[in-house]
Amino acid sequence: MAGVTDLPFRRQADRFGAPYVVSEMVASAELAKARPDVVRRAAGEGLKGPLVTQLAGRDPEWMRVGARLAEDCGADVIDINMGCPAKCVTSGQAGSALMREPDLALRLIEAVAESVATPVTVKMRLGWDETQLNAPDIARRAQSAGARMIVVHGRTRKQFYNGAADWAAIAETVAAVSIPVIANGDIRTADDARTALRLSGASGVMIGRGAQGRPWAPAALARALSHGGDMRDPPMRAILDSLLALYEDSLAFYGQHHGLKVARKHIAWSIDAFLPKMEPTLRRRMRADVCMLDDPQAVREALSRLFGGPWAEAA
Ligand SMILES: Cc1cc2nc3c(=O)[nH]c(=O)nc-3n(C[C@H](O)[C@H](O)[C@H](O)COP(=O)(O)O)c2cc1C
Repeated sequence: MAGVTDLPFRRQADRFGAPYVVSEMVASAELAKARPDVVRRAAGEGLKGPLVTQLAGRDPEWMRVGARLAEDCGADVIDINMGCPAKCVTSGQAGSALMREPDLALRLIEAVAESVATPVTVKMRLGWDETQLNAPDIARRAQSAGARMIVVHGRTRKQFYNGAADWAAIAETVAAVSIPVIANGDIRTADDARTALRLSGASGVMIGRGAQGRPWAPAALARALSHGGDMRDPPMRAILDSLLALYEDSLAFYGQHHGLKVARKHIAWSIDAFLPKMEPTLRRRMRADVCMLDDPQAVREALSRLFGGPWAEAA
């Protein structure tokens, strides 16, 4: 997820035991031109789990080059983005715009699958809009082109993130292919995941926004699905330790100046996720106060105070 699953975040998810975490979307042409911020997105040092690098683009040649570079950077899986609804991506005919151009989409998948030995997967939506629900057709063709797994977000591009994800609609894609299909969209609890699996018949689920500020969530969901019961929050001390580790990692990974800013998003999400008992106005103020601090030591101390406070114990 762009702006969310950077390497410091994925390292935390991985430490909690996430079975599978995907990189931020990496623009293939920009990766090939070695734009530093884009190259950083393909990094995966220190992950125990597989390095899954997601490529976006619309030009088969750039996708080919990008895939080889991602493989050189150590990718264990290369995922192709056909789901991003953002105008800046779809106006360049990448992301979910590819759902409207299945022939081009297929050429991209073929180009990537031919160029690398690494398994190739595809992330897509149900279709461009309700009149073009072509995920099953594209998935079938993707499978023939060499894709090894399909992830379907149960919305159309037209829906962006509005309405509810339609897990039952993913069943048509499951029926269309023999490779694993993973259901995605609006999965936040173990019960959501069980319902999505039942309605779609998918082989697994993928969690997106539900992991923002909660890097332990994928592991907790995997455990709940294997052993039954709900997702369980780790102790508050483990959450604080993870947030502090993510903070240090961000400063080291991006450099102090940029790292401070990037880490603020994760801090804000974590405060929202873990201090729900705090009165909302107070929580907003606390969040703003922490996110305005420039001195790393002051940030560490503020986080320790916040996550060690009485509102944290009650969470
Ligand atoms: C901020 C943000 C960034 C995202 N970036 C990506 C991305 O880079 N690649 C991708 O395949 N999906 C991306 N998505 C979509 C999510 O992967 C997921 O498909 C969608 O949010 C629905 O699942 P959820 O309800 O579990 O979040 C992004 C979503 C959000 C909110």
